[in-house]
Amino acid sequence: MKRVGLLTSGGDCQALNATMRGVAKSLYNELGGDVEIFGIEEGYKGLIYNEYRHMTGRDFAGILTKGGTILGSSRQSFKSMRTPDENGLDKVEAMKKTYRKLELDCLVILGGNGTQKTANLLREEGLNIIHLPKTIDNDIWGTDMTFGFQSAVDIATDCIDCIHTTAASHGRVFIVEVMGHKVGWLTLHAGIAGGADIVLIPEIPYDIDKVCAAIQKRTKAKKGFTILAVAEGAISKADAKLSKKEYKAKMADYPYPSVSYELAELIAQKTGADVRVTVPGHTQRGGSPKPYDRVLSTRLGARAARMIIDEEYGYMVGIVNGETCKVPLEDVAGKLKMVDPNAGIIEEAKLIGISFGD
Ligand code: F6P
Repeated sequence: MKRVGLLTSGGDCQALNATMRGVAKSLYNELGGDVEIFGIEEGYKGLIYNEYRHMTGRDFAGILTKGGTILGSSRQSFKSMRTPDENGLDKVEAMKKTYRKLELDCLVILGGNGTQKTANLLREEGLNIIHLPKTIDNDIWGTDMTFGFQSAVDIATDCIDCIHTTAASHGRVFIVEVMGHKVGWLTLHAGIAGGADIVLIPEIPYDIDKVCAAIQKRTKAKKGFTILAVAEGAISKADAKLSKKEYKAKMADYPYPSVSYELAELIAQKTGADVRVTVPGHTQRGGSPKPYDRVLSTRLGARAARMIIDEEYGYMVGIVNGETCKVPLEDVAGKLKMVDPNAGIIEEAKLIGISFGD
């Protein structure tokens, strides 16, 4: 008999349920009545405070296309894990206690970077862990792709597509702000797919004068409108030079809701253009997973099940060169996969005329 826990933690995405279905269906299929699955509720919160439910095959039926997570999720920062809660509860010990109480053989944890760090901590504490890489940001080291990313690319691209028609009608400059505070994968892919003229990402700090020059070049060429895909975490060259402390101080008095509004003001001042900002926000994490993610999730989930059956623990399940693989958690936890400014995709985007404002 195998006893398996499932937990979804951090910001949600479209393919969490599809991935859990992949794990569960494979386990039921291979082990029949010899497996019990427990759903831990609301991420690490449920593990700390002993909130879980016994699940059956019925729980996983019809969820391939369902966005969000049937288990609920919460953000519990890695940093806070070693700090007792307001009642003095040792969170790590509490998580171990729930795991032992349920007599789990393995805990399957679906989440992004922060979640992965806690997963690795639990591994170090002696629990059997398998991590599955979730995030619309695609910033997890050791896997070519995270589930959620392609679905979010689709939504952000749709948004840029819609902006195209209205931008053209009014001859405006439009900024579409795409999710991603630390990395620009989503902005880069949606920007290219949506035919954005300027793409600003955290990995390539921008110079506002270069951004304006790219807009003016289009105006001179009678293009009529310009679309910028801007990551939430896009940063100017000047700000990128600030120390962490200086940048924090600057942001404490930042008068704009986000970088896009600062850019809009500067562009309007410097070029005289009529500028608008559109923020699709959390719609990028919503709705059904796209077919790419359904396939990826099913494969990663099935591979996790295989590893549970073979008792291979302490790994993240990734996909590299089209094949699923197991990556030791200790090798990847805490590492961020960023866009390389010298990568082929950047060079190719520049070749077709996309400006990165650098
Ligand atoms: O990590 C996923 C993500 O959607 C980021 O792209 C975004 O910056 C952040 O989460 C938003 O977090 P929250 O849902 O807590 O506002």
